[in-house]
Amino acid sequence: MTLLRKARLALAALTLAALPLLAAQPRLVFGSDCTFPPMEMVDAHKQLVGFDIDLIHAVARAAGFEAVVKNTAWDGIFAGLAAGDYDAVLSSVTITPERARTLDFSSPYLEAGQVLIVPQGLNGLTTLGQFGGKKVGAQIGTTGALEVGKHRDITLKAYDEAGLAVEDLYVGRIDAVVLDSPTARNYVLRNERYKSRLKIVGTPFTDEHYGIAVKKGNQKALDLINRGLDAIRKDGTLARLVHKWLD
Ligand code: ARG
Repeated sequence: MTLLRKARLALAALTLAALPLLAAQPRLVFGSDCTFPPMEMVDAHKQLVGFDIDLIHAVARAAGFEAVVKNTAWDGIFAGLAAGDYDAVLSSVTITPERARTLDFSSPYLEAGQVLIVPQGLNGLTTLGQFGGKKVGAQIGTTGALEVGKHRDITLKAYDEAGLAVEDLYVGRIDAVVLDSPTARNYVLRNERYKSRLKIVGTPFTDEHYGIAVKKGNQKALDLINRGLDAIRKDGTLARLVHKWLD
């Protein structure tokens, strides 16, 4: 046998040996409420796209697993995780001490904060505390809704989706919306319908960090996710995604 042929055979054997490894790549399913532009949303071709979607595919590539994203309503998203409908929640989820009692979180991957959206013509009201006696909208069960709920004199209008709250503000049914800064900026700066009609006032009034949530004790999934997050933090991919979707 020639040396070349020997080398070829050895290579073929190696490739065959690697096949089961490839097939055994773990697969993780991520529940995501894809109504939260530009973080997770459905595009005109019905594809799930956005910062989080790009992020998880980069994380999966780096850590060697297959990522599948499943569009899921926000209300009940953590119950779905508990029920085993998916392995993790990837949905701009703020890491909070309350949630961390029943869920495990990945390392934080993005900083965000709640902001106030109001009609462009409204002047003089720049903090949530000034909205006593008024109606303020937020997505149900979010950290934004939690903030509104802290003010007893404000009527919280809770919506299934952040976009429905923004639409109600636009048509004048409510006085303000409290929403995560990246998504608020998307509606106010990039959305053709709302661009010249709504504005963000003040600065973010909470300090929040997004994390990927898994069932408490699912260390295997958490390790894979964190390994991938570390890798894309180090190689500049995360910074590129911030630039692509959020700048
Ligand atoms: N960061 C907020 C929270 O964790 C809102 C997240 C909403 N995400 C979504 N995809 N709708 O409560």
